[in-house]
Amino acid sequence: MKEIVLLASGSGSNVENIIKYFEVHPTIRVSCVLTNNANAKVIERCKRLQVPLFYFNRSAFSKSATVLKLLESLCPSLIVLAGFLWKIPEDIVLSFPNQIINIHPALLPKYGGKGMYGAKVHQAVYDNREKETGITIHYVNEEYDEGAIISQEKTVLNKKDTPETIAQKVHKLEYEHYPVVIEKLILENG
Ligand code: GAR
Repeated sequence: MKEIVLLASGSGSNVENIIKYFEVHPTIRVSCVLTNNANAKVIERCKRLQVPLFYFNRSAFSKSATVLKLLESLCPSLIVLAGFLWKIPEDIVLSFPNQIINIHPALLPKYGGKGMYGAKVHQAVYDNREKETGITIHYVNEEYDEGAIISQEKTVLNKKDTPETIAQKVHKLEYEHYPVVIEKLILENG
């Protein structure tokens, strides 16, 4: 079995969608979820879906090698960020070359960078009267939202859209495409 490790900080609706997609997969499975937020809704989702969950704090992530060692011990084929909000430390990036991917809820390089996540992105897209937005799936490097782009999908916006409907349209794209891209990357890399 090829294994995926998921990292999440918040609600975890993408985590749930990815877990369900691979539940019935013959060769790929989600081995566990890691979170940096002890109050995240993703914790309840993992309990319900019976997927192992690990919590870590800032120190275990970037001041010691605790999380790096945990990741190495898990031997994942792919580390998948799904609404994970901390920058990945250099030692983790270097230990997993082209093995860490992220999804961003906009068409990078627009609306990326530190502080641009979740609802803030959709509000900015709305404020700028954009005619389209979408998702970007990309490799993770040491900078926020700057790794090589793997794929982008677009959705059209109209005058009736609000930040909430924009979020809904983007989430729909995420649920549709993220698991498929994850599967493709893992299968392509043997
Ligand atoms: C998703 O829309 C994801 O693209 C975004 O956070 C949301 C998490 O939702 N990620 C970022 O903004 C990263 N910069 P979820 O917890 O319900 O999956």
